[in-house]
Amino acid sequence: MKVIFPFLILALIGLVLRLASSSQSMRPTEVESGPNLTLLISGEELGYLEPCGCAEGQLGGFPRRDSVIQQLGAKGNTLIPVANGDLIKDATRQSELKAEIGFAALKEMGYVAYNVGERDLLLGIDQLKYLQEASGIPFLSANLFHGENRVFQPFVLHTANLHGSQIQMAIIGVLSQSFEIQVENAGADLRLGNPTAVLTDLVEKLDQAADLIVLLAHADLAESEGLASAFPQIDVVVSGHEREELHEDPVFIKNTVLLNTGTKGKAIGQLDIRWSDDRTGPDYEFQALSLSERLPDSPRMIELLMLYQQMLTAENLSADMEREPPTTGGTYVGSASCKGCHAEVYAIWKESKHAHAYQTLISHGHAADPECLTCHTVGFGFQTGFVNIETTPNLPDMGCENCHGVGGNHVKNPQKGYGQVTQADCLTCHTTQNSPKFDYEVYLPKIQHWKGIGGGYETAKGF
Ligand code: HEC
Ligand code: HEC
Ligand code: HEC
Ligand code: HEC
Ligand SMILES: [Zn+2]
Repeated sequence: MKVIFPFLILALIGLVLRLASSSQSMRPTEVESGPNLTLLISGEELGYLEPCGCAEGQLGGFPRRDSVIQQLGAKGNTLIPVANGDLIKDATRQSELKAEIGFAALKEMGYVAYNVGERDLLLGIDQLKYLQEASGIPFLSANLFHGENRVFQPFVLHTANLHGSQIQMAIIGVLSQSFEIQVENAGADLRLGNPTAVLTDLVEKLDQAADLIVLLAHADLAESEGLASAFPQIDVVVSGHEREELHEDPVFIKNTVLLNTGTKGKAIGQLDIRWSDDRTGPDYEFQALSLSERLPDSPRMIELLMLYQQMLTAENLSADMEREPPTTGGTYVGSASCKGCHAEVYAIWKESKHAHAYQTLISHGHAADPECLTCHTVGFGFQTGFVNIETTPNLPDMGCENCHGVGGNHVKNPQKGYGQVTQADCLTCHTTQNSPKFDYEVYLPKIQHWKGIGGGYETAKGF
């Protein structure tokens, strides 16, 4: 496990936040509500801290989420943001850096609890404990044990002030019993307790101590529903693990509200909680706030995400990763190597958007981000492919060899038969997420650098 210069990062974050807090106020948006006690639920970002920007209309991202939170707060609401785990997707170095920034961001947004998910466990317990300490957010897991002891605290008590009265909240976290294997893989002596058994003890005690019990269940909806019906003392159950969208309509299991978080941070759930004057209730009102591009980006989140990009650059992450051999053999040579013999083709390509794909990353501040380089440069992830602009200045942009295959052999010994292209080649990058409007019939003519069907191509000059 590598923990990188944590103090430097925290110092930088402090600086960034001071800078950001002096910025301009925001434009008005669609968010509406009066003063309330508001539970804000999110989870399962799976590494999506912001939309990539490849297509219009993408939802989500911390900058928009923070704007919503700030707007709700400005209306006098008492906000309780809680997270239900799986902030990251895997255990790569990039995910470690992302976690570092992600938890700092949650802290800035005022999160009061983080329920550990099975993907988080991939980072390892030491790293999670470090992240808990660095962010100051309590990490919860009532049923994750190391020998006889709990790894993280089972719940957190949170006092919320609402119109002068104090509401005592207990927020508990559990992990689905289906993750035994993931727990074992996370470390020797780690074991997963049965959620029901663990809650039987806890809920009884907390029922006395708290006005409101919230259970964060990192479990699918069926298992969460089971917990909701087994423990009527729990007021709110938040479910979250691999469910597609955030459900607009909460389910009621007797008096317990059951909600889910959605995935990839595309929306945030807002549960307004009210008591009448005689403290009966509570009553609930729920809405899924979709984080659309109409929402402004919060400057302090933008600063944090820029810091993340600086960390990727500082670690030279794109150079420091495993690479597979190219599928067709040979070495990548770059689009300029084709120019000498295919001048006309080259000129057409040079005018296409493909030839500006790396510039796009530069203008969006992602020029060193391995998650973007895959589709915006030549041969990234393969041996002899793009590394970074200094090491491989010949391989930026979406070039000839991404479609026609590695060109080294062809350049040395040009032959017919090289580089057949099919729709499947396009679809490796034009995925539903990155290119939802992709239609081969429409897109193919836009990149045409050959004479139409049966027309034959004016072959390479000089042959
Ligand atoms: C899976 C491949 C893939 C990945 C990964 C990817 N992109 Fe893209 N990107 C595309 C494709 C394909 C398009 C063109 C979509 C279209 O027009 O239909 C695109 C377009 C874009 C555009 C719009 C360009 C324009 O001229 O309008 C931006 C901005 C962009 N990507 C940024 C990024 C960033 C930033 C990342 C990393 C966070 C990223 N991309 C990761 C495939 C990818
Ligand atoms: C290695 C990844 C990759 C492959 C393979 C790929 N593209 Fe693209 N494509 C991109 C990226 C990235 C962009 C956006 C470039 C930019 O503007 O920054 C893009 C943009 C485009 C655009 C411009 C869209 C617009 O908004 O005008 C067209 C058209 C296109 N691609 C067609 C194709 C076709 C057809 C294929 C297959 C024959 C293909 N692409 C294969 C990555 C790829
Ligand atoms: C987005 C994918 C894509 C990119 C990028 C691309 N090509 Fe092509 N190329 C094709 C497709 C599709 C054809 C159509 C012929 C086919 O079916 O293979 C083609 C055809 C050709 C042909 C003619 C083949 C023939 O039979 O007429 C040549 C030569 C060629 N490309 C060279 C290049 C060169 C050089 C570059 C870079 C400057 C380049 N291509 C970039 C997809 C691409
Ligand atoms: C030294 C000259 C030369 C260079 C450099 C060169 N080619 Fe070619 N290329 C040729 C010749 C010659 C042919 C065969 C033309 C023919 O007989 O129709 C050809 C054919 C092709 C074809 C069509 C294959 C077919 O079966 O019709 C593609 C695609 C192609 N080249 C792509 C590229 C790409 C991509 C590069 C750069 C990586 C490149 N070429 C560099 C000379 C060259
Ligand atoms: Zn999960």
